[in-house]
Amino acid sequence: MGECRVCAGTVTEFFDFGRQPLSDAFVRPADFASEFFFRLAVGVCASCSMVQLMDEVPREHMFHEDYPYLSSGSAVMRAHFERTAERFLATELTGPDPFVVELGCNDGAMLKAVAEAGVRHLGIEPSGGVADLAAAKGVRVRKAFFEESTALEVRESDGPAKVIFAANTLCHIPYIGSVFRGVDTLLAPDGVFVFEDPYFAEIVRRTSFDQIYDEHFFFFTARSVRAMAAAYGFELVDVEPLAVHGGEVRYTLARAGARRPTDAVRDLLAEEEGAGLADLSTLRAFATRVEGIRDGLTSLLRDLHEQGKTVAGYGATAKSATVTNYCGIGPDLVPYVCDSTPAKQGRFMPGSHIPVREPAAFADPYPDYALLFAWNHAAEIMAKETAFKDAGGRWILYVPEVHVI
Ligand code: SAM
Ligand code: TMP
Ligand code: ZN
Repeated sequence: MGECRVCAGTVTEFFDFGRQPLSDAFVRPADFASEFFFRLAVGVCASCSMVQLMDEVPREHMFHEDYPYLSSGSAVMRAHFERTAERFLATELTGPDPFVVELGCNDGAMLKAVAEAGVRHLGIEPSGGVADLAAAKGVRVRKAFFEESTALEVRESDGPAKVIFAANTLCHIPYIGSVFRGVDTLLAPDGVFVFEDPYFAEIVRRTSFDQIYDEHFFFFTARSVRAMAAAYGFELVDVEPLAVHGGEVRYTLARAGARRPTDAVRDLLAEEEGAGLADLSTLRAFATRVEGIRDGLTSLLRDLHEQGKTVAGYGATAKSATVTNYCGIGPDLVPYVCDSTPAKQGRFMPGSHIPVREPAAFADPYPDYALLFAWNHAAEIMAKETAFKDAGGRWILYVPEVHVI
């Protein structure tokens, strides 16, 4: 049992992944002995239905100068954020001197287009290295965690924001009350708070258990977001399913009563009702499927190992920390992982200590099998790696079930 970070209700645990490392801590051998571990377990609130981690990792352990994740590491995500910026510029940001704030702007994938359009903006980004990359693109960025005090300072220096946007960031923030009080302080009366995060209904549907790791504290549904919004004087006025990152939803919040909710909100709420997403029976069935995937994946990898087949990992995602550590997959079964992120290369995956190599190593020589940890970028990666398939290589996926293609 735990206490809900949204409504203080009772949180019932439904899955325990055991001892897990920081998902984005790509370590050197000198760090192996001092790695940070915590208990990764997930539960659901009986009152507001918010799915959340049972234990919180201190934010400075995760988001710091060396935070390695880059939003611009995928061409699909770059295009997605350009489209997002264009949409805001054409809709919410058309009035006189509009101001937009992005929480977790990372390397500036979204705000770059806003800066180029000459629109007043500010990125709030606590991870110094990625914030510097955004600044180098002409993005105005403040190195800070967004919370109530940050919002007060920004409101004083820049005035109210027409749009506050956060992609794959709000679900990372357990101190959600402080964030909502900050949004209340900073948002213009007719402004919108828009955020997009992995959709819990998709996680359950695809059994994509690897979306559960230290940084992903909350797992949103329309129902839980509506309750969270209401708790802080806001209202869920629109929802838009997104195909990125294995299925997300973009939620639009406005001040309570300020805008009329769209039919899409009503429809998604009704769909969720039918899926029983907050029912313990649904969540326990999910847990059983997760165990099945673990058993299927480890036995496939052991069989391939015994047959003398070579297997490489593809994409040293944060998600893969949960897969490797929960399933007990180490360098014996997957000797290396290739990844395009400079800050991950030459390091070792958290907990499992599988070495991370540059993308060129993938073809030198091709392995017999590639375990696609970056399954959410499957279309982009498979299109670029057709020579691997042509050479007889096969992809291993474990979402929604273990399969080889
Ligand atoms: N928005 C980008 C995207 O969708 O690709 C980056 C997502 S990344 C997974 C999460 C980002 O949130 C990190 O860059 C991290 O530093 C930032 N972050 C974490 N806590 C934050 C907070 N309280 N305020 C603002 N940004 C935060
Ligand atoms: P993500 O699933 O959190 O977006 O992480 C994707 C990881 O996969 C990130 O470390 C970058 C890496 N990657 C590649 O190595 N090659 C690629 O083509 C793509 C799209 C991602
Ligand atoms: Zn709750």
